[in-house]
Amino acid sequence: MALSEAARDGGAEVLVEGVTKRFGKRVTALDDITLRVDAGEFVLLTGPSGSGKSTLLNLIAGFDRPDAGRILVGDASVGDLDDPARFRRETIGFVFQLHHLLAGLTAEENVEVPLIPSVARRAERLERARAALHDVDLDGRLTHLPAELSGGERQRVALARALVGRPRVLLADEPTGALDSAASTVVLGLLAALSRRSGTTVLLVSHELDAAQHVDRVVTMRDGAIVGERAGGARTVPA
Ligand SMILES: Nc1ncnc2c1ncn2[C@@H]1O[C@H](COP(=O)(O)OP(=O)(O)O)[C@@H](O)[C@H]1O
Ligand SMILES: [Mg+2]
Repeated sequence: MALSEAARDGGAEVLVEGVTKRFGKRVTALDDITLRVDAGEFVLLTGPSGSGKSTLLNLIAGFDRPDAGRILVGDASVGDLDDPARFRRETIGFVFQLHHLLAGLTAEENVEVPLIPSVARRAERLERARAALHDVDLDGRLTHLPAELSGGERQRVALARALVGRPRVLLADEPTGALDSAASTVVLGLLAALSRRSGTTVLLVSHELDAAQHVDRVVTMRDGAIVGERAGGARTVPA
């Protein structure tokens, strides 16, 4: 049976199997990692700086290829894609520590950008962008530029941009790492609520103490390996 069929039979949305990633001869960023994430599951990845969390998310997104092992997202074998950019556009949403909003575009225009390849009518794109900004409580900031927004508001725009295309998988790499604790709580709460509502599968990297309460499962990494797993505070069904 092909690996992709095996993954689908088991209901996995993301399947990382025996993945190793090296940088040069001396750094093994990921050392034979295996991780499966079910459709709609919300997983928190923790672990010290340098443990390989960002490398893992980058491989799942197809930004880079593993040296060994395979990664499946839905039906796609991520290392073998002809068009990784298209795969990302259609399947993956991202939020990073820095918002990466385009400085010359308003909030609604930033959220509109990912829809440009797939939605021909501008009016429809803007309608969807405004709905996504409504979901992050930013109705009052539609035509503000990033420089006119607070840090927390910028991350909420970034979250709206990540979700507006209705991705199957949301990858969030320390999305609140540059925010104060009040703004962090708001952004994490929105991320959790919106991804739940849409059934999006989420891999979140966060050091926030309250992050674990929102998730189904906490996976701990160290030195490129998975060293622990436990249930998160949102898990309702016993493992
Ligand atoms: N592009 C790169 N080139 C060289 N080394 C890298 C690169 N990206 C990550 N690393 C190394 O891989 C290891 C894991 O890094 P990273 O995935 O960023 O960890 P984390 O996100 O958990 O802090 C670290 O030792 C880091 O220095
Ligand atoms: Mg990192």
